[in-house]
Amino acid sequence: MDNFTYHNPTRIHFGRGQIAKVGQELPLNARVLLLAGSGSIKRNGVYDQVRAALGARTVFEFFGVEANPDFDTLMQAVGLSRRERIDWILAVGGGSVLDGAKFVAAAVPFAGDPWDILAKNAEVKKALPVGAVLTLPATGSESNSAAVISRRALKEKLAFLSPLVFPQFSVLDPEATFSLPARQVANGIGDAFCHVIEQYLTYPAGAPLQDRFAESILRVLIEEGPKTLADPRDYDARANLVWAATWALNTAIGMGVPQDWASHMIGHELTALHGIDHARTLAVVLPSLMQVQRAGKREKLLQYADRVWDLREGTEDARIDAAIAATRRFYESLGIATHLSDYGVTADTAAEVARRLDAKGMAKLGERGDITPAVVERILRLAA
Ligand code: NZQ
Ligand code: ZN
Repeated sequence: MDNFTYHNPTRIHFGRGQIAKVGQELPLNARVLLLAGSGSIKRNGVYDQVRAALGARTVFEFFGVEANPDFDTLMQAVGLSRRERIDWILAVGGGSVLDGAKFVAAAVPFAGDPWDILAKNAEVKKALPVGAVLTLPATGSESNSAAVISRRALKEKLAFLSPLVFPQFSVLDPEATFSLPARQVANGIGDAFCHVIEQYLTYPAGAPLQDRFAESILRVLIEEGPKTLADPRDYDARANLVWAATWALNTAIGMGVPQDWASHMIGHELTALHGIDHARTLAVVLPSLMQVQRAGKREKLLQYADRVWDLREGTEDARIDAAIAATRRFYESLGIATHLSDYGVTADTAAEVARRLDAKGMAKLGERGDITPAVVERILRLAA
């Protein structure tokens, strides 16, 4: 196991009725920017609960953060925050709103062009405090320091990380997610699943605790995911999905172990180029990446086959084949198609994605740095 420093400062308020805790978290004299998406929070009662919790505080609202939050939209929120001397950002929504809030929090005090935070990895030296009320279990953004921002005008989708944008607190009320359409619930399960895989399916690193944690999260997603899709108001199933999705990317299982993240990097390009939902890009890339990278991932693929899918019969290669097939079947069972052609995208995109990653300095992806542009191309051609 490698050395690591672990510090996750986000206070989590989990469960029914916990949105009221927002009232204890924000200073009474805070000047708050409530950031939200296209309005689902007004239809499911979450907005009313948040406003009640905020009481008489000074609150400005910014609605309209889109799925795959856009730089140009967020810059309007940055302008509003600067004009109104906002000193707290409260994100109410899914990963897109939370990521957008993290970007706004970092951009408001940023001296230069905030695009540099994403495009040039410019250091974030200051950020406004962020709080979150999560309405979609998927990204782990409620408990991590990452944000992924799109810029449609440039066909780009880029990420940044800063310890300053960990939410100070996050409210996870499973009932706030009951109104999600099945498509978004499925996306959330599929995204969280891939987050675990990116930190687990690499090579053995003498870290059985991280392995067992990861395998538990995967099994919970496999078991509880379909339950919550079948009965969206099953509180226990939804509560377990919400908590599993947080654990999938609160960074605990990734401590001291190699990580991959190539499926995500390739997937972000597919979203930037073709507008495919984040989780759906992962469903396309992941089974194919497992196949192309099966030699380097052999030991972990066998462990995954055994402990996650109970596959213990047949030769080693047969078990690996079965585990990859089970992964694909799992995504398909959630209603998520796993081939590029299902999204109207041809194999020609493979070369374009490989070229774009190369141009961004991502020519050595994966836990061994062996996913070169040529390998990216093979992975996507296999996913056609
Ligand atoms: O716009 P609203 O009205 O809020 O509707 C949203 C949106 O249309 C809707 N929704 C959210 N909660 C709802 C609801 N509808 C009904 N009831 C509710 N309770 O769902 C739609 C999708 O929302 P979005 O926030 O885009 O989904 P998700 O949470 O999957 O976030 C995806 C974004 O997160 C990034 C992705 O790249 C993508 O941009 N990621 C962020 C990560 C991180 N910060 O660590 C890691 C991930 O790998 C991922 O890349
Ligand atoms: Zn993801």
